[in-house]
Amino acid sequence: MLAIIGGTGLTQLANLQITHRQVMRTPYGEPSGALTFGTIKQHEVVFIARHGYGHTIPPHRVNYCANLWALHNQGANSVVAVASVGGIRDDLNPGVIVVPDQIIDYTYGRKFTFFDGLDRPLTHIDFTHPYCPRLRARILDAARDANEKCVDGGAYAAVQGPRLETAAEITRYERDGADMVGMTGMPEASLAKELGLSYATIAVVVNHAAGRGSSLDAVHLESVSAVAQSAMAHVRNILECLVGCDGD
Ligand code: HPA
Repeated sequence: MLAIIGGTGLTQLANLQITHRQVMRTPYGEPSGALTFGTIKQHEVVFIARHGYGHTIPPHRVNYCANLWALHNQGANSVVAVASVGGIRDDLNPGVIVVPDQIIDYTYGRKFTFFDGLDRPLTHIDFTHPYCPRLRARILDAARDANEKCVDGGAYAAVQGPRLETAAEITRYERDGADMVGMTGMPEASLAKELGLSYATIAVVVNHAAGRGSSLDAVHLESVSAVAQSAMAHVRNILECLVGCDGD
């Protein structure tokens, strides 16, 4: 079954025919909200809103372990994570949809592993390619089928938030090789890999990163939600095509 983790601007899926909701308790505490089960074009899907259905949970307080454990426990084998980002690379302007292929992790103080010596034997997962290449390819195929533009590849800088970055931090991240910046990409991706889930991200650029383009003097948050809303309509089209493909 395919799981979808919705981010900012995607707290529900309009094209999901809901069958039931399930409140879960996990060994890691409570997920961000009840899991929503349903179908998109007759294909079973489970959905969770990363920040809660009322968008009240900040990125550093999301219980990533509980969310992924719950999805895995309920039979998900693939996870498509939708996330908003700031664009660093020149072509990553607001409204652009991108499927990143790399991650640089700058987060700290989050519970970042299931292998903490308590209940699982230590395993060092390979994380060379943090996103599942097959799931990435399926998303890009689905975008083509849906006639939606989607950029193939880019490095996602995962930052702690909730504050936005300084212009110098963005320059540093760019020098490090980052193309976009967001607050929720980690530890979500590595926890998914620890559970053996196939995981990929659809990133929606909702603003120029600090000090770039229209954010030269400041990041103007007023425009972010409108950009996110309109871009999420395109993401929904991609997801609708994606669930029709084999692989879940
Ligand atoms: N920085 C960090 N996270 C973000 C941004 C940003 O500019 N935009 C959306 N998520």
